[in-house]
Amino acid sequence: MTAANREVSLGMPQLPAPAYPAEVLARLEADAEKVIARYPGSRSALLPLLHLVQSEEGYVSRTGMAFCADRLGLTTAEVTAVATFYSMYRRRPSGDYQVGVCTNTLCAVMGGDAIFDRLKEHLDVGNGETTEDGKVTLEHIECNAACDFAPVVMVNWEFFDNQTPESATRLVDDLIAGRTVEPTRGAPLCTYKDTARILAGFPDERPGAVEASGGAGAASLIGLKLAKGEAAPHARVVGQRGETPQDAPPQKGAEHLSSHDAPQQTSASDPEHPAGPAAEEGE
Ligand code: FES
Repeated sequence: MTAANREVSLGMPQLPAPAYPAEVLARLEADAEKVIARYPGSRSALLPLLHLVQSEEGYVSRTGMAFCADRLGLTTAEVTAVATFYSMYRRRPSGDYQVGVCTNTLCAVMGGDAIFDRLKEHLDVGNGETTEDGKVTLEHIECNAACDFAPVVMVNWEFFDNQTPESATRLVDDLIAGRTVEPTRGAPLCTYKDTARILAGFPDERPGAVEASGGAGAASLIGLKLAKGEAAPHARVVGQRGETPQDAPPQKGAEHLSSHDAPQQTSASDPEHPAGPAAEEGE
């Protein structure tokens, strides 16, 4: 029974999704087979298959969802439920570059809200909207576990740390002008479709991409170093894109520290000033 038939049998008749061209269908079927083979149960392959169809059209279309349903023996309703739950799947055609501004709590108070407002005005688009030239889609994004580098902007899921309204404006201008931009850390930037293919589990074959993508940033490792009794790197103010760091000399492994990453003095680290009960007035 095909996905469309299953839906009709459930009393949810729907116009069939447009078909992929034969060449595209053959290619996707071959790729889908490789993805499905990785899992003991085929339905476990749904998330990577959604990325795979997203890599074809830049978003998860009805055609893509019907393809996933047919390959995995699911209903399109089941596939739709998953595709609409996760924000990494787009439901409509969007820009070449998804510029996501983290406006979760920490990034918001560190400047994420101001960045988002500035980009909205600069690009003349709202949340989830795309510039007229089809280059940039602006979005609020949720916390990407990079709070130590707040405020964070992500382009096609690559990190641009410690941003300001000015640096983020330069970033989108560079993207629109076709100038090369380099993420603060991680793999080099690629198109949204290429990103989706990597997320489907196909290797990133660009030279140096794998080496560049591993490892936690220095700011994320400070707590671990302190817990191990190792000296934490000295804090310094990160220069925004194209600017120079402001204070302490750069130290190996500390390239991405930001001013708010500085280990704070505590009674343990500052025995001369132990914490204690507040002194009574007049003592
Ligand atoms: S709040 Fe922005 S990365 Fe966590």
